Amino acid sequence: MTTTLRAVHEDITTLAVDAIVNAANSRLLGGGGVDGAIHRAAGPRLLEACRALGGCPTGEARITPGFELPASYVIHAVGPVWHGGGHGEARYLADCYRNALRLAAGHELASIAFPCISTGVYGYPFEAAAKIAVSTVRHTLAQAPTLREVIFCCFSGRERDHYAVLLSDGNPR
Ligand code: APR
Repeated sequence: MTTTLRAVHEDITTLAVDAIVNAANSRLLGGGGVDGAIHRAAGPRLLEACRALGGCPTGEARITPGFELPASYVIHAVGPVWHGGGHGEARYLADCYRNALRLAAGHELASIAFPCISTGVYGYPFEAAAKIAVSTVRHTLAQAPTLREVIFCCFSGRERDHYAVLLSDGNPR
């Protein structure tokens, strides 16, 4: 079976997929940006579930229920803060996508949506991050055989268009 990769311009909290990925911080206690939006939409039980996890190192991911979200699960991934590119940022970012897909596979999920991890408050250059996101997902799909759909959920039309170009380059799936 094939897995569809697509880019959308949406608020990720509205997506009725098996899991949405949160661009979290290592404390996993909420924040601004997409983290704040997800916690607001999921309700207070999400914070309780996150408290029980005791944090998450950069590059790793943890899974909780989605509570009041349309998504069944939230996969909290902790992206790197951009410090110029010489501190392993690219590897940590790729690890976020790899580890989120590993969790999706472990829970036999069929659909997952990613925000543009680290490209907001954490300052990662958008184009470089998008390239890592698409190539890491493409190279990890074989390890997530239940996945039918991967959505790159952008918060602007410009970002969505950029992902659409990356996804349309005809690479064999
Ligand atoms: N839906 C989809 N994407 C969103 C949404 C939303 N509702 N809100 C914000 N975004 C986008 C931003 O426009 C950006 O492209 O998510 C991307 C990631 O930006 P941030 O949320 O700032 O996340 P990040 O750069 O990874 O920084 C993480 O910010 O919010 C805090 O607690 C969080 O400390 C952590 C840090």
